[in-house]
Amino acid sequence: MNVPAPNTPVAGSEDRAPAVRAMFNDIAPKYDTANRVLSLGLDQWWRRRAIKALGESRTGVVLDLCAGTLDLSRMLIDEGATRVIAADFAEDMLASGSHKFTDVDPIEIMCADARELPIEDNSVDGIICGFGLRNVPELHRALAECARVLRPGGTIVVLDFFQPIGFIPRLLQGTYNRLIVPTVGGIITGFGDAYRYLNQSIDAFYTADEFASQLHDVGIEAKAHSMFPPVAHMIEGQLRNG
Ligand SMILES: C[S@@+](CC[C@H](N)C(=O)[O-])C[C@H]1O[C@@H](n2cnc3c(N)ncnc32)[C@H](O)[C@@H]1O
Repeated sequence: MNVPAPNTPVAGSEDRAPAVRAMFNDIAPKYDTANRVLSLGLDQWWRRRAIKALGESRTGVVLDLCAGTLDLSRMLIDEGATRVIAADFAEDMLASGSHKFTDVDPIEIMCADARELPIEDNSVDGIICGFGLRNVPELHRALAECARVLRPGGTIVVLDFFQPIGFIPRLLQGTYNRLIVPTVGGIITGFGDAYRYLNQSIDAFYTADEFASQLHDVGIEAKAHSMFPPVAHMIEGQLRNG
């Protein structure tokens, strides 16, 4: 049995937020390097595709939710976003990515919990969230916040690893995440447990279709799309008008 270290978050438990925050603060300095190595560079390609999926919303005011080291925020500004609001509750993740911007870039970086966003109702044209919502306890609160801040007709794109369906995908993804990810992630960041948590968090998460129906419950019409290779999925949704 996999026994988590004392400071390791337990996926599925409601009080794991402080441990999740501490874990991301720990791995922040090496987070980008670990991503590139573990995904063989695919992570940035997935992010670019997610930005395109925002459609016209990407040139308006966009919330980068669970923004981490701000890769998606950088891409949004490069795509012509009027303003990017980058929100994350791990201040060291945000600090590690802040060098990606200059003073003239239209970005507002805020340390905030996805379950309680200090953002006005109906004030953003689009929301993007990369690999973040899987880590948020009380997911329904975070999704209700997305529906609250998004303007009617606005678009949300969620890129993440969801629970795989079918024996072969489960076997392949589970083996890679159990054997390779903690070892390589541990060598790069010095925190192997953080990368053991990745697999746990996927196991405890929804399938992509189940996630889309959670969005439906807060008034967002959503559809799941598989990425290549089909380990990552993208959920595209639009807030219903009225
Ligand atoms: C795997 S990283 C993803 C970062 C970035 N979006 C990316 O594409 O690489 C997950 C991020 O979600 C943030 N996070 C987790 N739970 C959160 C919460 N309740 N509120 C705000 N941010 C949260 C973590 O601090 C972390 O930076």
